[in-house]
Amino acid sequence: MPTDLAELDNHFSIPGVVRFDAGKGGLTRALITSPLAEAEVYLHGAHVTAYRPAKGEPVLWVSGKSWFEANKPIRGGVPICFPWFGARAGDATSPAHGFARLKDWAVETVHQTADGVVEIILSLAADEQTHKTWPHDFSARYHVRVGKVLELVLRVRNEGREAFDFEEALHAYFTVGDVRKASVTGLEGTTYIDKMDGMKHKPQGADAVVIAAETDRVHTQTRATCVLHDPVLGRTIQVAKGGSDSTVVWNPWIAKSKAMADFGADEWPGMICIETCNVGDQRVTVAPGETAEMRAAIGVG
Ligand code: BG6
Repeated sequence: MPTDLAELDNHFSIPGVVRFDAGKGGLTRALITSPLAEAEVYLHGAHVTAYRPAKGEPVLWVSGKSWFEANKPIRGGVPICFPWFGARAGDATSPAHGFARLKDWAVETVHQTADGVVEIILSLAADEQTHKTWPHDFSARYHVRVGKVLELVLRVRNEGREAFDFEEALHAYFTVGDVRKASVTGLEGTTYIDKMDGMKHKPQGADAVVIAAETDRVHTQTRATCVLHDPVLGRTIQVAKGGSDSTVVWNPWIAKSKAMADFGADEWPGMICIETCNVGDQRVTVAPGETAEMRAAIGVG
């Protein structure tokens, strides 16, 4: 697999549609420009940092304070959390949300389908470094499909001889006009774990999710499509999913925004995370030789 930038560009670019260059912090990225949409994907973390459908406005949010550095996660876009979510239970030294968002992924293929969708497939495999924190042999493939919809498919294969389990999230950050005026439907009737209230399990009831304080919730046992309603930008964003049994909704609000070095103190009204995931009791177990697939499809209404 080519890793050198010039080699990558030589090997995988599609003239006028896909090119590779050095992005922020000198990190390698793929830039996709097609009649259907534009997108930007960093190999660091296999991180989609931008998506804009033709004639539409940017969908994904990235902090102006984000790191673009090796060993630090990008704040915004769609971080991949794997193989654990949040702080690792019983281990304060392991990175939050796993190592996948800190590793450089390899480009496997880039192609454009007859209907104009551009697909980039990135891969990551267990190595000496991942074995130090997580002993399992795995390979992961991430399909980024850029078209009228942004489709993200994460496939994790067990390359070892014993079953293992893991958590995962496609931790999407969306741009909103004002999060206080936005709402998320699709989670009615679910139970959520309220990380802001001692991990209590609470019913969502019949109401849409609205943000009126720091919000950090894991909605359990839900496969529902979420719809983000944004009256300020006058649009809706659909997040449909497959192979995912939990959904996290997060907004850091005022104090937490100030406390995070890679998040602007006044940026919180402009974003909301709706995360397609399998976390906690919804973690995935994968048998030797088997592959687990999780997907999100993000579209603008
Ligand atoms: C969310 C978690 O998914 O990610 C929050 O539920 C966490 O608890 C947030 O604060 C951001 O995490 P990080 O590691 O990117 O700062």
